[in-house]
Amino acid sequence: MPSFRADDLPHTAGTLEPPERPAPPPDPQRLCGHGLRLGYDGADIVGDLDIDIPPGKITVLVGANACGKSTTLRALARLLKPRGGSVTLDGKAIHQMPSKQLATRIGILPQTPTAPEGITVADLVCRGRYPHQKWFTQWTDEDERVVAWALEATGTAGIAGRSVDELSGGQRQRVWIAMALAQETGILMLDEPTTYLDVHHQIDVLDLLVQLNREEGRTIAVVLHDLNLACRYAHHLIAMREGRIVAQGEPGEIVTEELVEAVFGLKSKVIPDPVSHTPMVVPIGRHLRF
Ligand SMILES: Nc1ncnc2c1ncn2[C@@H]1O[C@H](COP(=O)(O)OP(=O)(O)OP(=O)(O)O)[C@@H](O)[C@H]1O
Ligand SMILES: [Mg+2]
Repeated sequence: MPSFRADDLPHTAGTLEPPERPAPPPDPQRLCGHGLRLGYDGADIVGDLDIDIPPGKITVLVGANACGKSTTLRALARLLKPRGGSVTLDGKAIHQMPSKQLATRIGILPQTPTAPEGITVADLVCRGRYPHQKWFTQWTDEDERVVAWALEATGTAGIAGRSVDELSGGQRQRVWIAMALAQETGILMLDEPTTYLDVHHQIDVLDLLVQLNREEGRTIAVVLHDLNLACRYAHHLIAMREGRIVAQGEPGEIVTEELVEAVFGLKSKVIPDPVSHTPMVVPIGRHLRF
């Protein structure tokens, strides 16, 4: 479902909540989590996490499966109510902002979005415009222009009339990205947007994010599993393990063989990427001997 539907927030039942840590003073334009405690039914998945998404930059989150990347992203976009701590945007707690107002500021493509049955590509992408619509105006020329641009930018204009159900995994993923783009938010968060995409479309999508960042100053936060693409595209890389941040900063400053082993339990060689000169992680694997 579209990310701007915040009314079905999961509410976690908690007993003996520790006192909330007061949020630090406002820091304009910044999306931050302070002392976040996140979880579902059982134990906390993320405990006492401070996270900062720097404005005007591309932040990439990496980490092993189940370490809490999606959980963290969903809390930052108010799709998950924290058990403790707070998320602030421009210094204001996002859990107190009106849903529609928040949806004009933050767009998120979740890891596994679900589309209404039978919906067409064009209709799904049009739903991204919902936060911009006023009760007294109908669909505007501006809405039309943005949707056309989002379809074009993601290479989905040619399938606009097709039902989303019948698309390939990669086509469907690009349609969801188009919907997130149509929302036209200053902060755009994408959870594994390159999943299902062939290598050409992976690079296309990431280049599009760079374009949005450079030309429009949009703040981007994205989860990626491909460490080499993460190092190429991140201004700010956040490496997570078991619900905690173990390293963050410029990829060239933080990505080492030790970090890869600590985060993924994987032996590797880290060498300069011959194209981008950012770190390139070459896994060793068990079957090769050095
Ligand atoms: N809706 C849910 N209900 C209960 N537990 C959940 C739910 N979503 C995630 N979890 C659990 O929370 C933990 C963290 O999951 P999360 O999706 O944040 O991991 P992730 O780092 O995004 O992993 P991946 O790389 O596989 O996407 C996992 O143990 C997962 O089983
Ligand atoms: Mg995930």
